[in-house]
Amino acid sequence: MAREIRGGFASRLGFVLAAAGSAIGLGNIWKFPYVTGANGGGAFLIIYLVTVFVIGSSIMLAEFSIGRAAERNPVGAFRRLKGGAWVGVGYMGVITGLLVLSFYSVVGGWTIAYALKAVSGQLAGGDAASLGSAFGGFIGSTAEPLVYHAIFMVLTAVVVGAGIGGGIERAGKVLMPLLFLLILILIVQVMSLPGASKGLEFFFAPDFSKVTGDTIIAAVGQAFFSLSLGMGAMMTYGSYLSRKVWLPTTVATVTLLDTLVAILAGIVILPAVFAFGVDPAAGPGLTFITLPAIFNQMPGGDWIACAFFLLLCVAALTSSVSMLEVVVAYLVDEKNVKRTRATAGAGILIFLLGIPSSLSFGLLGDATWQGKTFFDMMDYLVTNILLPVGGILIAVFAAWVAWPRIIEEVSGWAKASFPLANVWRFVLGIVAPIGVLVVLINGL
Ligand code: PHE
Repeated sequence: MAREIRGGFASRLGFVLAAAGSAIGLGNIWKFPYVTGANGGGAFLIIYLVTVFVIGSSIMLAEFSIGRAAERNPVGAFRRLKGGAWVGVGYMGVITGLLVLSFYSVVGGWTIAYALKAVSGQLAGGDAASLGSAFGGFIGSTAEPLVYHAIFMVLTAVVVGAGIGGGIERAGKVLMPLLFLLILILIVQVMSLPGASKGLEFFFAPDFSKVTGDTIIAAVGQAFFSLSLGMGAMMTYGSYLSRKVWLPTTVATVTLLDTLVAILAGIVILPAVFAFGVDPAAGPGLTFITLPAIFNQMPGGDWIACAFFLLLCVAALTSSVSMLEVVVAYLVDEKNVKRTRATAGAGILIFLLGIPSSLSFGLLGDATWQGKTFFDMMDYLVTNILLPVGGILIAVFAAWVAWPRIIEEVSGWAKASFPLANVWRFVLGIVAPIGVLVVLINGL
């Protein structure tokens, strides 16, 4: 009943693409390369991969199951399946949704700006050094990035306002494969650069002497961020899914696609970093500085750059809508707010929350706490604390509190049963909470 009223995904493929669209975004193409660069390369990659495949995939399956079992936003889902203090995990997800989108949208705005700068020829001809200072000048200015932040938020709100089947499901179908194709073309291009192999070595050859508590937190946090886990985004998508779909294969597909795109992005960016003599630890600008330098070496580079940043913007949008959807689904389900009103209200609030993040690259650049700007702090709080903590609470809930209902979602409704059920429960109930807690306590 509830499903008919709330609307839902029309097909399995539509759901897989939406979930993959949520996972694949700026986290893969913008964040993953610079976080890998700042954390020493190969060893980080290994910790990241282990976290993604063991803990991340298990939690994604838990989120889909909880969402579909309850047919509710995260707050409503915990209330329906158990209630009590567990509802707080849902609220934490809604708040995380507001926070993460506030700074994600700032970077989403950068992609729009760069698409426009590319066609108007403003990126042409520069080398990595001049592209670096142009980027610093742009994000450090006051009004311009805020305008693009606003545009990105409006686009996100328009898609979410249109509802699940209408907006979100359609957006990813054509554009995601195109982005993928363009990344493959870039790999071919980047491999011909002198010095590229040093980047590959940095990326793939692990040097465990560089691993610290911070490296491990960063890898774990990046895994949650990239798979959209720990705040109920996947849970909310799961709540719109038909019982006919068998969840484990869906999880496998989404996890593999997300990892593939992150690794391919690393194979583009990190070799370019070394070929152009950029510092791999240069931070959030890495992608925006190295990519234009690659495009400048290609015939028709301006147009390819424009296409790339537009597609990156679409990839970012299919992620940002899943963040906003958590907040909107909460307001619609629990507070009976109309979808359009909820979307507009939440959108405006998130835009305002994002302003200090945007300004922290210029005006507020000196306002730091322990060396972190406002943007850095938001990112750290969300990625390295809220998402992992939310993730282990979801895991414990699935394994110890609502297990009979959860396993029914995976083995009961569908024709196939889930052969790995015991392993899955062990990871959710023991490995994930203990592992992530140890990492967090150790690193903080
Ligand atoms: N996974 C998205 C990305 O990689 C970001 C995201 C985080 C989306 C949390 C939803 C929830 O860009």
